Amino acid sequence: MSGSQRLTDSAAWRALQAHYAAVKDAHLRTLFADDPGRAARFTVEGAGLTLDYSKNRITEETVRLLVQLARERGVAERRDAMFRGEKINVTERRAVLHVALRAPRGERIEVDGQDMVPEVHAVLDRMAAFANQLRDGSWKGHTGKRIRTIINIGIGGSYLGPEMAYLALRPYSDRTLDFRFVSNVDGANFDEATQGLDPAETLFVVSSKTFTTLETMTNAATARKWIVSALGTDAAVARHFVAVSTNTPGVQKFGIDPANMFGFWDWVGGRYSMDSAIGLSTMIAIGPENFRELLAGFHNMDEHFRSTPLERNLPVLMGLLTVWYNNFFGAQTLGVMPYSAHLARFPAYLQQLQMESNGKHVDLTGAVVDWQTGPVIWGEPGTDGQHSFYQLIHQGTKLIPCDLIGFLQPLSPLTDHHDLLMANMFAQAEALGFGKTAEELTAEGSPTFQTPFRVTEGNRPTNAILADRLDPRTLGSLVALYEHSVFTQGAVWGIDSFDQWGVELGKVLANRIIPELRDKAAPKLTHDSSTNALIERYRRARNS
Ligand code: F6P
Repeated sequence: MSGSQRLTDSAAWRALQAHYAAVKDAHLRTLFADDPGRAARFTVEGAGLTLDYSKNRITEETVRLLVQLARERGVAERRDAMFRGEKINVTERRAVLHVALRAPRGERIEVDGQDMVPEVHAVLDRMAAFANQLRDGSWKGHTGKRIRTIINIGIGGSYLGPEMAYLALRPYSDRTLDFRFVSNVDGANFDEATQGLDPAETLFVVSSKTFTTLETMTNAATARKWIVSALGTDAAVARHFVAVSTNTPGVQKFGIDPANMFGFWDWVGGRYSMDSAIGLSTMIAIGPENFRELLAGFHNMDEHFRSTPLERNLPVLMGLLTVWYNNFFGAQTLGVMPYSAHLARFPAYLQQLQMESNGKHVDLTGAVVDWQTGPVIWGEPGTDGQHSFYQLIHQGTKLIPCDLIGFLQPLSPLTDHHDLLMANMFAQAEALGFGKTAEELTAEGSPTFQTPFRVTEGNRPTNAILADRLDPRTLGSLVALYEHSVFTQGAVWGIDSFDQWGVELGKVLANRIIPELRDKAAPKLTHDSSTNALIERYRRARNS
């Protein structure tokens, strides 16, 4: 069980090490040639998604041992503890209950003996009433004009999910409303997001779990000034600002009436919050019914994760494959390539989800781990990536497992484009897996001098994730798939996937440096010589 035994001491780990030595050089060409049933054997379905993981460097024995590892590390017990509302975020002594955000009415999920599902639905109902008022124009700005633009101010989990979901679900959105996002404390972000807007027609959704985050509070204060100076009165704030937060006093102090606040709970991690009230802008864009579809998709995957045997469990298998490459093959990164322009921000969303969750150096007991934890996550939509960085994946010296995500039905009426898009997805997986040998090239007439350069080794692993179409329900399933894959990885590594202490130090140091940049009479700098010199150079430039 994780926590009580070191990962590298577990029997399954040792067995996997021996197994790795035996299979590491096996080529996908041979694995497929030897087993005509391989694709079917390594394809699983759940919650509207299909995962073909046959183009991975695995055998049935690999899967058996990885599942054994999950058993020894207590993945299922930890998952059940999460669903029971136990405080599995041990370093913050908090429950981890994003699954309660999408539990249907009538289901019971308790925290400290209290059923949270009725509260979740009460907030959803308030969000729906507000979203409908914006969508039907009955919510008016201070001057009586209809709201046309909604700007979400927030960062990290209070931004990436809303922006990703808005872009993903634009075809389902109300096109008469415009949605923009301000996250960065760089004033350029606010300037650009408000370009050309009429303040009388603009609503800000200030999204922050803590309502203390420097970037968000700075941007919200700037937005407040922008509204008040244009509309001439503080009274305008009531019609142009709403807040999403767990911090009611903080919201009140900022000047937003709690009647215009949508709450959530400390058991929702920032990076797991896009389906909480943090999704308010998403709900305004796609409407309450579509938002409930999104939640239904999440819930379907939750149920799949909770009740499907580990051997056929999509997020468990994906998480275990990440462990396989990360810890045995030494892969440093995982590429996520959606074959959908609408999923342009999905890799960025996954970066926070995975890297803030599993970028940890100690286990649940606080002992420094002597195994690798979370990989670097990155990616871009295919086919753009193919014309930029895929070369390195095909012929470079690094092993980069990739998830390729595609949809059977197009959203665009330009359906002939879709065939080309999906042909590219399937072709890339084929090329990455099987490559091209010197013999094949010679037989095709490749000039001898070019052949070594044209050889593509293959044996580059990919997962193919397919769904019928990108709709709210599918997006929910897809996000939950990755959430639970991250969970599985964290449970195997025996780490706390739900804290983020590493981001604190930079925040503290920035707060120390801010007055040093602003205050001309600041005391002597006492940082290291490099930081001192950088600050001094900045001061000279700004004061000259
Ligand atoms: O700095 C990291 C972080 O705490 C994330 O975990 C979180 O999503 C983000 O900042 C924003 O926090 P908040 O919603 O409290 O403004």
